[in-house]
Amino acid sequence: MASVFKNFIASSVMTLLCFSLCFYPFALAQDSGTATFNTPPYVPSKCYGYEDRGVMIAAASEGIFNNGEACGLYYQVTCVSGTNEGTPFPCLDNGSVVVMITDLCPPDSCRGTIDLSQEAFASIADPNSGVINISYQQYVYIKDSRN
Ligand SMILES: *[C@@H]1O[C@H](CO)[C@@H](O)[C@H](O)[C@H]1NC(C)=O
Ligand SMILES: *[C@@H]1O[C@H](CO)[C@@H](O)[C@H](O)[C@H]1NC(C)=O
Repeated sequence: MASVFKNFIASSVMTLLCFSLCFYPFALAQDSGTATFNTPPYVPSKCYGYEDRGVMIAAASEGIFNNGEACGLYYQVTCVSGTNEGTPFPCLDNGSVVVMITDLCPPDSCRGTIDLSQEAFASIADPNSGVINISYQQYVYIKDSRN
């Protein structure tokens, strides 16, 4: 009986720990970089082939993509500033968006750290700017496992 009780306590403690550690929506450290955008069609993608994953998505440059390890991970991307004189203040007031990594931004043509979908980019900045400075952080508590 005592050991059953002990097990119950142990599993309750584990459950509590897991609730605080596994499900608490904390984010990893912020990094800075640049963001560009790409336009539809968004398939095929390196992660999901012809499977449609919506428009709040992004292609990651090689370092982030990490041979596909980043597939299905979510990143919060925040517009920090412009990168060119043409559109000196491209950031919208609510300049932050969460996107899922679905693709690789090909090293030979990639011009940013994160290549957002046109829709994601337009929700944080003026698309006329083309490239923006961003800060970004990965959310560790959600990963789309269908890869
Ligand atoms: C964008 O980021 C680069 C690199 O950190 C920096 O040199 C540049 O000044 C930034 N642009 C603006 C407008 O802040
Ligand atoms: C951001 O703010 C602009 C202007 O207030 C608004 O039109 C737009 O819908 C907002 N975008 C998001 C993603 O909330």
